[in-house]
Order: sequence, then C-alpha cells, then structure tokens
Amino acid sequence: MKLVNKLALILIVMLLAGCTGSAPQETADDENTVKIGILQMMTHGSLDEARQGFLDGLAEAGYVEGENLIVDYQNPEGDQSNMATMADHLIAEAPDLILAIATPPAQQLVAVNQDTPILGTAITDYADAGLVDSNEHPGGLVSGTSDNCPMDAQLDLLLSVKPDIKTLGILYTSSEVNSEIQANQMEAECEKRGIEVKRVTIPDKTVINDAMASLAADADAVYIPTDNNIASAMGSVDVISRERGLITLVGVSDMVKNGGCLSLGVNYYDLGKQTAEMAVKVLNGEDIGTLPVGYDKSGTVYYNSDTLEAIGIQLTDDFKASAIDMRN
Ligand code: TRP
Repeated sequence: MKLVNKLALILIVMLLAGCTGSAPQETADDENTVKIGILQMMTHGSLDEARQGFLDGLAEAGYVEGENLIVDYQNPEGDQSNMATMADHLIAEAPDLILAIATPPAQQLVAVNQDTPILGTAITDYADAGLVDSNEHPGGLVSGTSDNCPMDAQLDLLLSVKPDIKTLGILYTSSEVNSEIQANQMEAECEKRGIEVKRVTIPDKTVINDAMASLAADADAVYIPTDNNIASAMGSVDVISRERGLITLVGVSDMVKNGGCLSLGVNYYDLGKQTAEMAVKVLNGEDIGTLPVGYDKSGTVYYNSDTLEAIGIQLTDDFKASAIDMRN
C-alpha cells in the first residue's frame, strides 16, 4: 500500500511539473504579435460600437485577437482617478499603439505619453481639445476619427420639427471639453438665426433633474451634445422631457434610444472601422502625425416616436421615411 501511495505521489508531482514546465511562453514577445492598448471612457452604446468596429476592422485586416494581436482593454467607467491610473499603466506597457475612445481618455494619455502613437475615435474635435496641432495636419503622436456633425444641419433638424423656437437650452457637463466645443458651436449657430441661448452646465449626473426642470421653465427646446456623463443617465432627461413637454435634440442615436427625441449623428461602428484602417497604416510604419483626422460624412437622422408622441409632436411621413426610429 505504501509503495502504491508513493508511486501515486510521484506521478502527481511529475504531472504537475510537466504542466507548468511546458507552459507556453507569453506571446507578447513574439515578433509577429501586435500589442494594442485601449482606454475607453466608460461603457455606453456609441463608445462600445466604436470599439467593436475598430476590432472588427483590425480582424478584417488580418490582426486577430488571440492569434497575432494582444489587446489590453481598460475602462474606468468614467472615474477620473482610475482613468489616470489606467493611462499610466498603458503608457508604461509601451504597446505598438493605443486607442483612446472619447476625449477625456485621449487627454489623459497625451498628458503622460512619451513616444507611443495614440489613435482616437468618437472624439469631437482633436484641435479644440488640444490633442493635435491641426485636424488636417496633426503633427505629433495623435490622430484618429471624429464624430463631429455639422451644427447648422443639427439645428435645421430641430427646427424642421419645431419651427417656433425662441430660446434654446443647452445642457452639458462642465468638465467635458467635448461638450463645451459643441455648445459653443450651437450657440454661434443660434446667434446667426436670432435664437436666444440658455446654457446650463452640471458637475455630475445627480443634478440632471434640476437642470432639466429649470430649462423646461426657460426654454422651448434643449440641445444636449455628445456628453459622456449625460449619455449614461438619459433616464432623467426622458422623465422631465415627457413631464414638461420639452423636446430634446441630442448628440447621438443611442441617446435617442434612451429617451432623447432627435439626433443627427454618425454611425460609430463605421467610425471604429475607419479608425482601424488608420491603425493598419501606423502598424505598417506610417508616421501618425501625417494622417489627417477622419470623419463619417454620412450623418443619419434618428428619432424616438415614443418620446415625440408623449410631448405631442407630429412627424410627417416624409420625415419618417428618411430617418430611423429608435423607439424601444
Ligand atoms: N464625442 C464624445 C467625446 O469626444 C464621446 C462620445 C461619443 C459620446 N458618442 C457619445 C458622448 C455619445 C456621449 C454620448 O468625448
């Protein structure tokens, strides 16, 4: 019996040693393996779609996760201090390329970057956010794709559904430059057309209700840009909008789906794919600073027939035929 036990023990030890001894080497050091870091601000529809488009685009170009591509995906869910830690971590790893999804992570990465090429996607305006010298000729270590849509066309869309707007409320989060840029563009557009603007900024999403209620009292409609913080809390916007009959024009389709009324927006999946094309160029040795910022020119109109009905707005058949209903 004893001998049997001993033999069994030896067998087990040998098996264990065999398992660990022949463990495969980390593929990160393989010459043909590409390493990409991703810093995504938080989980929400447009940002997730952009990431998926990017990864699918890379796969189509032959960079497949688990085969010849390692992706270090970091997502601080909007938390600023975690975002800083994750940015430090990605930069320290020195991957072949980092993808920043949304403006705040891109700014965070750039602040600590030494020599890693950084592509962005879903970023409103690279130049205004201080990420590049100019959108046409970025010049440094950053380029990517933008989700900016012409503001005159966005205001046209709102006025086509509600022509009698005298005061437009603009709501966004004070810390988000991406939103401030769009708010400024919208204000300039309103000035041209003699529409008054009432701007309300919030520090965080706990006060969206109050902000919306004050705008319901003072404005005929509200514009909310692609604000990461508000996009993740559209429920509050939806409730007040219905209660007070306040129409909203929002930055993206996902915000329409979650209770906004209207949007002229880009397709984030396509934008992510377009970014993958730029990534392939960088991986092939092109200087990222020479790649101009890319745009998705085909803006699509999105509406939510449920919210619009609730606030008493009728849409024409022509309108519906050329737009996408995001009603749940
Ligand atoms: N454009 C925003 C930025 O630059 C990010 C963004 C993309 C976004 N889609 C959105 C924000 C939708 C809110 C809602 O940071």
